[in-house]
Amino acid sequence: MRAGFTQLCHLDILNWELVTTASIYPNVIAGEAPTLLPVAPASPDALDKQHELGQFLTPNPIAEFMASLFEIHRNEMRLLDAGAGAGALSAALISRLCRAARKPKRISVTAYEVDAAQIEPLRARLDGCCRECERAGISFSATVLNEDFIAAAVPMVRGDLFTSESPRFNTAIINPPYRKIRSDSPTRLLLRSAGIETSNLYAGFVALVTRLLDKGGEMVAITPRSFCNGPYFKPFREDFLKAMSLRRLHVFESRSAAFSGDAVLQENIIFHAVKGAPKPRQVIISSSSGEHGGTVTEHAVDFREVVSPEDAEQFIHLPADDQHEQARRAMQRLSTSLPELGLSVSTGRVVDFRAKEFLRDQPGRDTAPLIYPCRFRSKCSKSGRCLSRGRRSRTNSFRYARACQC
Ligand SMILES: C[S@@+](CC[C@H](N)C(=O)[O-])C[C@H]1O[C@@H](n2cnc3c(N)ncnc32)[C@H](O)[C@@H]1O
Repeated sequence: MRAGFTQLCHLDILNWELVTTASIYPNVIAGEAPTLLPVAPASPDALDKQHELGQFLTPNPIAEFMASLFEIHRNEMRLLDAGAGAGALSAALISRLCRAARKPKRISVTAYEVDAAQIEPLRARLDGCCRECERAGISFSATVLNEDFIAAAVPMVRGDLFTSESPRFNTAIINPPYRKIRSDSPTRLLLRSAGIETSNLYAGFVALVTRLLDKGGEMVAITPRSFCNGPYFKPFREDFLKAMSLRRLHVFESRSAAFSGDAVLQENIIFHAVKGAPKPRQVIISSSSGEHGGTVTEHAVDFREVVSPEDAEQFIHLPADDQHEQARRAMQRLSTSLPELGLSVSTGRVVDFRAKEFLRDQPGRDTAPLIYPCRFRSKCSKSGRCLSRGRRSRTNSFRYARACQC
């Protein structure tokens, strides 16, 4: 039976002997590049598990930054941390609240984590939060659920008959697992049964968390930015933008030295959104290199510039600086599509040595310049020496490829 939430410094560990990751994750396939700090794998098996579970933990400075984005004061905070790992995100937010001039009276945390190996560290972290809250005079309770969040949340949002009443949250802080989910997998079918169509686990988490939030509830999440465009994420974008009012988007400019090992921060964003609130007039777009102590630049952008009301695809644009904004405006002025110009684009690499019969040294009526990638990086010297490769390349003169129809 689930214990109550209200006891001061109360910590529940439920079901934690019930779940084995292997039984839950036969359906998860490798997806996007890893981000953030990987859980140090001790063995190939541990590495497999880390990838299968999308276990890339949030470094403390990023967790603190995420915690700083919540705006609404609440006397009673009901916090959801789905895919909690070792609890870095909840801990950062609770710590911020304990130091705030205006503190909440009560905090209750519900943390879902499927990996049994993370439960002890998670519990220890929340024990620490409990002591911090005690010192700050805040009543604290935590429920740690060693469960698959998707399997637990779907029946709640579907309102299944024999599901215990779904807990309502007014705050969520998440770094969900990033994994593709196959179209015929149980996870995909489960999500579909709750009206959620997505090919990646992280979007499934965000969609479920959105549904579990009360009106006015706030969510801060760090996720891949792939949901911002592309046809696969269109149903997710529509669903998300309808329910949530985007307040802030933070982008990372580059990989950062501060994220050790093979951690990668590029292609991730942090967003802050409020459920059921009217669309804001402006969204704050901020960016940073991701380096510890690095500066964060931010500016306010009209919401219409971020998500255009005319755009049927509901792309989310991230004009992080003036250059991005200029590029976006320039693109908007191009009103003709490539097919209208008689052009088609193939995005695969052109490898010159495999297309020798199409190469010309001199331009002709039926040729187009073949431009080598290093030219875009200012790494080719005037003499054509390709500095990125450290050897004389074939780029010392432009080559010309005869238009081919292959
Ligand atoms: C990207 S990590 C983030 C961990 C933590 N929130 C942080 O920020 O450090 C995602 C976490 O979700 C857990 N996880 C993966 N699939 C899950 C599922 N279906 N239900 C609950 N937790 C899951 C992983 O074990 C991992 O600890």
